[in-house]
Amino acid sequence: MTSFRERIRNSSREKQSKIVLALDFSGPVDSRIIRAKRVLQITKGSIAAVKVNHHLILPFGLEGLTEIIDTCRNEDLPLIADLKLNDIEATNLNVVESLFERGFDAVIANPFVGYEDGLGKAIERIHALAGGILLLVYMSHRGAMEGYGLRLEGGEYLYTLFAKRARDWGADGVIVSAKSRDMMENTRAIVGKECLIFSPGVGAQGGAPVDVSASIADFLIVGRTIVDSPEPRDVVKGLNSN
Ligand code: XMP
Repeated sequence: MTSFRERIRNSSREKQSKIVLALDFSGPVDSRIIRAKRVLQITKGSIAAVKVNHHLILPFGLEGLTEIIDTCRNEDLPLIADLKLNDIEATNLNVVESLFERGFDAVIANPFVGYEDGLGKAIERIHALAGGILLLVYMSHRGAMEGYGLRLEGGEYLYTLFAKRARDWGADGVIVSAKSRDMMENTRAIVGKECLIFSPGVGAQGGAPVDVSASIADFLIVGRTIVDSPEPRDVVKGLNSN
């Protein structure tokens, strides 16, 4: 089976897009799946991948996402679970089995938890299933500097240590805020070209112009700017033309 990295790169090439659509629907729970299916239906040919978060996973569970999972499968759209996994090994492995059995392609995790008895075995298992592991390096909200921007003894930033972990642990990708070109450049210098950079923060979170972040990032994670628009197709088209 082809690796997650190959699958998402192929999808990006086919659809001529770097967008990972975040299906983040707020408001009445009853209509979230219908709205998600609608947006997915009209954008599926022009996005590279799909990401789901607690907005859908908590109210509906994995079973409740069957139609979305099937659409992604049929359209060769890799599906990412944004769980920011951050637990002990036994729990992480349990989550991985549930996600990949249901047809997910990748999961986002927090390298803070460490490798031994933390993420190590989960990463091995994910790769055995040809799945992807994406590690947080620098988040896109303002308070990110209070954690990811901390300096360690000796002066190194926590986020550059996380980038080194991503490289050394064989992560398929890292998540770095679109709001800081410096952090993206520093991360790229550490992780190299093979590790994919996914960048959230464009649009609703006031991130850098798309052309700036897209010049370094492999993928842009975009949610509300697309899903809350009356014309998601036009927003995607606009983002893809940058
Ligand atoms: P918006 O609506 O701001 O949604 O375009 C962005 C989506 O991405 C998630 N998000 C992050 N996920 N690291 C992550 O793993 C981050 O730094 C980050 N910032 C935003 C957010 O939860 C939403 O699903």
